[in-house]
Amino acid sequence: MKKTAKSIGSVSAIIGAQWGDEGKGKVTDIIAGEFDVIARACGGANAGHTIVVGGKKFVFHLLPSGALHPGKEVVIGSGMVVHLPTLLEEISVVEKAGIGIVDRLFISDEAHILFDYHRQIDGMLENWRAEYAGQAIGTTGRGIGPAYMEKARRSGIRMGSLRGDIRSELESAADGIRRMFGITVDRAGELRETACAAERLGDRITDTVALLHQRMSQGKKVLMEGAQGTLLDIDHGTYPYVTSSATTAAGVLQGLGVPPLALTSCIGVLKAYCTRVGSGAFPAEADAETAQRIRERGGEYGATTGRPRRCGWLSISDLRRAHQLNGFTHWNLTKIDVLDEEERIPVAMPAAGGRTTFEMLPGWHAPTKGIRSFSALPREAQSYVSFIEEQTGVPVAFIGTGPGREEMIVRLGT
Ligand code: IMP
Repeated sequence: MKKTAKSIGSVSAIIGAQWGDEGKGKVTDIIAGEFDVIARACGGANAGHTIVVGGKKFVFHLLPSGALHPGKEVVIGSGMVVHLPTLLEEISVVEKAGIGIVDRLFISDEAHILFDYHRQIDGMLENWRAEYAGQAIGTTGRGIGPAYMEKARRSGIRMGSLRGDIRSELESAADGIRRMFGITVDRAGELRETACAAERLGDRITDTVALLHQRMSQGKKVLMEGAQGTLLDIDHGTYPYVTSSATTAAGVLQGLGVPPLALTSCIGVLKAYCTRVGSGAFPAEADAETAQRIRERGGEYGATTGRPRRCGWLSISDLRRAHQLNGFTHWNLTKIDVLDEEERIPVAMPAAGGRTTFEMLPGWHAPTKGIRSFSALPREAQSYVSFIEEQTGVPVAFIGTGPGREEMIVRLGT
């Protein structure tokens, strides 16, 4: 795999091009071996990264997918909102698998703590929205919006406080929450959780911006792992049906404190079809029967919430827009095998007046699962890949043909 890191360079970002759940975890996991530091930048436990290693399935919500690689340094960056019990639970899962993690974990002192009361407020805001604005966002219920609300009103509690007098900060936060939302924060419970995290992780909290810059100046390779997808970006996504953080390459750089020109590549991850969880427009959504077929074949149920995902087709205008926003250098097309039995594959094409028309591409009616070379793909599957390249101008360098780490076609230098 030496070729991989060489052609994507030493500072790479992996970014979802759709509404999240593109399967970013797998390419991260595959190329992580070539990097020294693997970092997550934004979002929180709303993400659900699934990685299958040796037939065993791991789902991470906070840790970067690369955490399963022993010896790699792992960063939880400044732009993140961290639910401490979830983080401790994930650490224990990795440790139970026999992989040490705490000694190579670095948590930004600037990252915000997401408390249980943020989750409670998330539910309240969703109910209000459903009642007064007609439709809830369909959030993951993980407290993401309320945690970023506190951050934006400059009242959040950051990880660095775990090493200081968090009690008084929590008292004043709880007071504000009671006044604004009429709820009583379980101070004792929250303090217990923070004490537990401080004991276990206190000495892992650091200035991760300085750490990353030091590593880069030492010539170390840094892999930055995006969460969610471009269409869920707070500024450029399908607002208001978006998450509360920046999900683009720019957001990842901001969340880690890495300057734009440091980036040597940006890998856009897109599923061979498209899914969305939660509310909001989805012009290329498939009819119910087709969606159900794809959902079952692709296992399209939320890794975080278990919700059935809405299923549909690629939209070329969305992919072009995602490329404009992120400047992709490579595509990772995932889950092509899920389309093996489709008669025809519709692709939404831009049309005059913002309408959507569909181009019907031929299916391949042949198994692609586990295929590891491009030339072994059925001709129609090859054409599907070429179509995406022609329409977006971005080479498809990685093609996922199954959930396992090995089930991937790698085409670098295209
Ligand atoms: P929140 O991030 O929990 O506030 O949810 C806001 C919207 O983003 C909802 O439509 C969620 O379903 C969606 N969302 C958040 N995280 C993910 C993810 O990791 N994958 C897919 N959708 C997500």
